[in-house]
This record gives sequence, C-alpha cells and structure tokens, in this order.
Amino acid sequence: MRFDLVLFGGTGDLAWRKLLPALFQSFRHGSLPADGRIIGVGRGAMSDDEYRALIAQRLAEVEADKRPSDAEFARFAQHLHYLRMDLSQPADYAALRELLQAREADTVVMYLATAPSLFTTVCQQLGAAGLATERTRVVLEKPLGHDLPSNRAINAAVREVFSETQIFRIDHYLGKPSVQNLLALRFGNAIFEPLWRRENIASIEITMAEQLGVEKRGEFYESTGALRDMVQNHALQLLCAIGMEPPISADADAIRNEKLKVLQSLKRWTPETVTRDVVRGQYAAGQIAGKPVPGYRQEEGVSPTSQTETFVALRTEISNWRWAGVPFFIRTGKRLAGREASIVVHFRQVPHAIYRTPLGAANRLTIHLQPKDGLTLQLMAAAQSQADTGGVQTLSPAALDLDFDQRFGTERVGAYERLLLDVIAGRLNLFVRADEQEAAWQWVEPILEAWQQANARGEAPRPYVAGHWGPGAASALVARDGHSWMEEF
Ligand code: BG6
Repeated sequence: MRFDLVLFGGTGDLAWRKLLPALFQSFRHGSLPADGRIIGVGRGAMSDDEYRALIAQRLAEVEADKRPSDAEFARFAQHLHYLRMDLSQPADYAALRELLQAREADTVVMYLATAPSLFTTVCQQLGAAGLATERTRVVLEKPLGHDLPSNRAINAAVREVFSETQIFRIDHYLGKPSVQNLLALRFGNAIFEPLWRRENIASIEITMAEQLGVEKRGEFYESTGALRDMVQNHALQLLCAIGMEPPISADADAIRNEKLKVLQSLKRWTPETVTRDVVRGQYAAGQIAGKPVPGYRQEEGVSPTSQTETFVALRTEISNWRWAGVPFFIRTGKRLAGREASIVVHFRQVPHAIYRTPLGAANRLTIHLQPKDGLTLQLMAAAQSQADTGGVQTLSPAALDLDFDQRFGTERVGAYERLLLDVIAGRLNLFVRADEQEAAWQWVEPILEAWQQANARGEAPRPYVAGHWGPGAASALVARDGHSWMEEF
C-alpha cells in the first residue's frame, strides 16, 4: 500500500520521544508498508538529509535493542522527508499539496503532534487547500482542549473538515498490549465474566505511577496538571475497559458505545464529594533512587507558588446494576516511589472462613501494564500441612503469574507502533470517539471548578515528598472503605 504520513510537529517532543522511534520499530518489524513516506513538518529550514541526520542521532539514544544499525537506518531513512511550514500560511499548504500530489498515495495520514491550540487552524487550512479528501485520515494527540467547551470547539472545527470515521483521537494507553489483553481476558474467556460484578468484587484500583517529574514540560504542565494529563483520558479509558458491558462485536463503534455508557454512568460530583473523595497533591523535594530531586515548584517553567497538582487520587462509582456500590479508586502522580501502571481487581473475602488467613488476604487479579506486562492472580493456598500447626489450618497467598513478554516473546508491539499501524490500516477500535471524550470532560469539570474555588481561597494541593506514594490523605481515602493500595498490603 502506498501511504504518506505527514507529521506536523515533526521536530517536537512527541515525535522525538515516541513517534519516530515507534515508526522505526514498525519498519524493523516489516509492518510499515514498504511504499510509504514519512514527511516531518517543522518551522525551521532543513534539508531531507539534515532531518535524517537528526533522527539518526535520536535513534542512537534509544534502548540498545531498539537502535538501528547504520545499514538499517540507511534503509529507513529512504522513507524520511522534511518540509518547512508556517502553519498559518496558506502558501505553505500549497507546497504540501504539491508534494503529496506528486505521487497520489492511497492513504494520507495527517498526524497533528503539535500544540492543540493549532489543531483548528491546521484542519481548516488543510480543508481550504483541498487536502482533506476521502483518502485522508487525521490523528489528534491529547490534550484535546483544556475543558469541555474547548474540547467541543476543537471537535466541531475538525468535523467541519473531516468526518468522524477519518478522525483518530489517540490515547496511547489504549495501544498498550495489556489493555488489549484485558479485553481478551474479559471477552475471550468464559470464567471471569460471571465473577465480574458487585456480588464478587469488593473494589477496583487503577494506579499510574511515574518516577519522572515534569522534565522539560514545566510550562505546559502548569496549565494542565495531573487530572487533565492522566485522569481525564488514560485513567478513564482503563476504567471503561474494566467496567464496560460485553460489546456485541469487536467493531469500533460497538466497543465505543459500551465505553460511552460507562462514562455516562460515572457518579456525578458535588462540591462536597470532591472535597471528600478527591485528593490532590504536589511533589516537594525528595529522593528518587537515592538521588536528590527538586520539588515541583522549583522546576523550570513552574511558578514558585504554583497550585497545579502533580498527584490525584480519587474514589468513584459506576452507577449501574453491575457495579453499584463498588468503589473504583484511581491514583496517578509524578515523582512517586515506583514506575508502575496496573489495575487491581480485589475480590470479596470468602463469606464464611473455615481457615485462618493473613489479615485482609483475598483473591486479587492484577493486570500489570508497566514496567511488566502481564497478569497475576492471587489465590489462597494450603502451604503448610495441618499437622504442623496442630489446629486450624493457615492459608497463604500464592500467585499464578502470566508474564506476556516471556510467554509471547520480547518483540511485542509497543503502544505507539500499534496505534500508528492502526491509523494506516484505518482501524478505529483503539481510538476515542468525540462523544466519549466529551463525556469524560463533563465528568472532570466539577473537580476542576471545585479546585479553582479552593485555589481562590488560598488552599494548595497537599505536598508529598518525592519518592513516596503521594500524600497520606490518599491512604485515608481508601481506608474509609476498608481498603489499602496495593503496596500497602
Ligand atoms: C502522557 C502524559 O500522556 O503519558 C505524560 O502527558 C506521561 O505526562 C505519559 O508521562 C505516561 O505515559 P507512559 O506510557 O510512560 O505511562
């Protein structure tokens, strides 16, 4: 297949950190269609060869097993091109049109890895330049707006130019292999679905913990914060995958309809429940892996009196027959004690105990998203013989472990690689529909409003020492329901 991928923001942070390495991996795996061009678009003047040299430098820095050899890079580089554009100038879109018309590809992907404030302009200009044909697909990176009205405005502007089936809104968490496996676990196996409900499940915990701070993105992060950066999108998408009803098919809209219902069933916030059930934190100086790190307010581009949150923990519920009353805990933060993303399904304790078990021990299914990619099912097992204890037998927790990397090999496809190939192939299953996104914004809005009022009253997020698991209030939040976060067991 002949395709052109136009990478707006072709010299930007996302292209550098994620997209170009992912494109190289798909090339190496032979999954990138051979007749494809990747056209990086940037503001500075550069030749194709200069752009290739920069990318070669970048790829030389990735993990050793993902680095190209010189010969491999030379072959990959044949796909790479560069175009200087000022995104507000119609004449520059005419130059892009000329470049694209030179060979009439079957599919043209416009990947908007730029600041979201440019999405509307770029789409309008593409439309005006006749570059939005039925062969065009547009990829929009998050964040799509900073609240519900701005999200709606972007979606409306993009839809003036492209139809919904041409719009690929990326949430890279949906490309993670464990999320695919979560859906396979639920809808490809008969044994879990009957258990997957309030009668058997005590609580669900979603953790997305990072050790990194805000790095060089201080300025961006100041106006974003953890709620917009991680909860409104990634965490809610994971919650949908856990909580949705079985879709009638694996088609994109069948899946997205079910996810939308979950978002619409989330318990609504009031100012009182925000105060009670949402904890916001901000990291103070501390240590990560034995090395001192500055606090958030000392980071480059961050105000010394910043009230932006770098940590959120919250408790919510899905108000429907399957889930009513089951707490869903979400937690995410920067500069935490570990890099770990996982979902833990805590099953209820046995209704009547005839054995002795360690305090709080019960069945637990952990879906590991990173750094490990797999599943652990904790069962209670009779480790000691009865004769040893002379009385009531004591059970011990024992884990059944499925490590996907070991089981299926290490050459598994990364999130961005997978999603880029889906865009090229036109598969929408793992992309977010506009109504899902709006429902997610609608749900977080009252939290943003309550925080704005708290800020006006001079209340700041709770500080936590870098290298720990966030403010103590996050533990108190789950303790009220008789639960503990996974590392507290
Ligand atoms: C991005 C956020 O969407 O996800 C970043 O903007 C965050 O702040 C990143 O670091 C985390 O992704 P991953 O895949 O490394 O967990």
